[in-house]
Amino acid sequence: MCGIVGYVGDRNVYDILIKGLHRLEYRGYDSAGVALETPEGKLNIYKARGKVSNLEDFCKDKDLHASAGIAHTRWATHGEPSDNNAHPHYSQDGRLALVHNGTIENYKVLKDALIEHGCEFKSETDTEVLVQLIEYIKITNKCSLIDAVREALNQVQGAYAIAVLEKDHPHEIIAARKSSPLVIGIGKDEFFLASDATPIVEYTKEVVYVKDGEIAVMRKGEGLKLLTLDNVEAQIDVAELQLSISQLEKGGYPHFMLKEIFQQPETLLDCIRGRVVDGGKTIKLNGVEDNQEVFKNARRIIIVACGTSWHAGLLGKYLIQEMCNIPVEVEYASEFRYNHPVLFDDDIVIAISQSGETADTLEAIKIAKRHGAFVYGISNVVGSSIPRETDSGTYIHVGPEIGVASTKAFTGQVMVLTMLAMCVGRLRGVLSEEKVEEIGKCILEVPELVKKVLELNKDIERLSAIYTYAKNFLYLGRGYSYPTALEGALKLKEISYIHAEGYPAAEMKHGPIALIDAEMPSVIIAPYDHLYEKIVNNVQQVKARGGSIIAIVSEGDNEISKIADHVLEVPRVPECLTPLITSIPLQLLSYYIAINKGKDVDMPRNLAKSVTVE
Ligand code: AGP
Ligand code: GLU
Repeated sequence: MCGIVGYVGDRNVYDILIKGLHRLEYRGYDSAGVALETPEGKLNIYKARGKVSNLEDFCKDKDLHASAGIAHTRWATHGEPSDNNAHPHYSQDGRLALVHNGTIENYKVLKDALIEHGCEFKSETDTEVLVQLIEYIKITNKCSLIDAVREALNQVQGAYAIAVLEKDHPHEIIAARKSSPLVIGIGKDEFFLASDATPIVEYTKEVVYVKDGEIAVMRKGEGLKLLTLDNVEAQIDVAELQLSISQLEKGGYPHFMLKEIFQQPETLLDCIRGRVVDGGKTIKLNGVEDNQEVFKNARRIIIVACGTSWHAGLLGKYLIQEMCNIPVEVEYASEFRYNHPVLFDDDIVIAISQSGETADTLEAIKIAKRHGAFVYGISNVVGSSIPRETDSGTYIHVGPEIGVASTKAFTGQVMVLTMLAMCVGRLRGVLSEEKVEEIGKCILEVPELVKKVLELNKDIERLSAIYTYAKNFLYLGRGYSYPTALEGALKLKEISYIHAEGYPAAEMKHGPIALIDAEMPSVIIAPYDHLYEKIVNNVQQVKARGGSIIAIVSEGDNEISKIADHVLEVPRVPECLTPLITSIPLQLLSYYIAINKGKDVDMPRNLAKSVTVE
């Protein structure tokens, strides 16, 4: 999920690796490390928690001479961020060093088998399983590193980009990928390797994008070799890099927020990987599986969160009530902690937090625990306080979110809540096998559908120009689209500083309708669902008061499209999945309006990414 850099050749290996890691810093990470192989075949690993600069400090008095090297920035998924869990990892006999981006889904089964064979593990990572497995195969089969890597990767399920060094092979790097990116730069008698082209561009424009299921062999003085997992030589397509140095930051996007919006097809895939399985028939969430009795017997669920995470929580209420038939209350963590909460032993409290460090949410968790409730955490940052304080939970696995305005974390949270509701619904016998399969199949399509929604980018950019100078906005929706409306309004407020209010569309006639005139645009979220006919009425009420309307509708809509001033069509999905689709155009709309106004979208005034104070 984060960064890999590699180099073999005559230049200063350490300098290239460190510079490359700095170039990849924009991806976000929690620790960094390098493995350097000396020309004499000695393999040294240095790593440190925190910034790349910490690693540089740590390396100051170390042996840095090398003929090949690999380096890594880690975004922890298995095991907390620590010096020990940082990559590279040695194999048991110290002859291999490996870096890895991604997650190994079947790491537990592999780890247990390796332990039986006498393997000792030094870290909590899934990655160490891979390097130990490669070594084990290499020794038992008495084969080359390439054969061992291929054999190991054939046993592994999950996502990976890896790079491996072998002791006594000082001029060689082996790398491979599946679902995580990897690019090779080809120089004269030298190779560069990285997660994206940013660390490579200043040295060479000739690159090869490694494809899924390919293993690359980079040996100084020889041509690049690509092999498939079936041991067949693959074709090498050399591309010319279009990237310029000035575009390097943020991976070519002008802002983290835009990059994170566009990452959502991949982050949603990362979020469901290994969890929506058997073609959608089964939903596997370890946190629920390990606590089946608690979820079976729960009488009530209380969700606590703040801001965007609270909006995801409100969607969680709709999902859980529909699929599990359990009453759900959603509370602002800051209110919950002071409103004398009444909690019972058979209550489950679900705390949602991207950062895992929000002070109000943390305090709400402590109170819930004091009252004897079972507390479940949904978070993005591995090893942060909230996952440590809760009884069990699920990571959303969307990678680091840098933009202060949450986008990909929101869709990740909603996706986890959807999977959780399905799991628990099945467990309690409320949701049939057929229903799980029907929704599960659609979930697997969501990443591709989000990609399709992102094609509206240019239309939304044009549309934003018309509304840049509006002073107020109303965001309206019903059912699942109501929390989406709240989230859309919050996004606009946060980064463009335009006043925006989200409302349940039917509630509008009880007050806010008084605000509507030609100066007050309404964004209406009206995908095709069981409340569609009802929201048509609300749209007409806005139109009758002279308000202009931007409508988010399903493809093929023919009622609201005729009334609204601007229409954004999105793919049709089952009702419970609509927020994952309709929230995307709202993110883009607020982004472009803020850009038109010249605002700092990544660091909006007065806001902090992680609110660790009350
Ligand atoms: C979202 O765009 C905001 N930055 C903010 O509302 C945020 O969601 C809130 O502060 C909660 O943060 P958390 O998810 O890290 O707990
Ligand atoms: N899953 C690995 C770990 O937790 C790699 C994480 C990454 O992609 O940085 O160490």
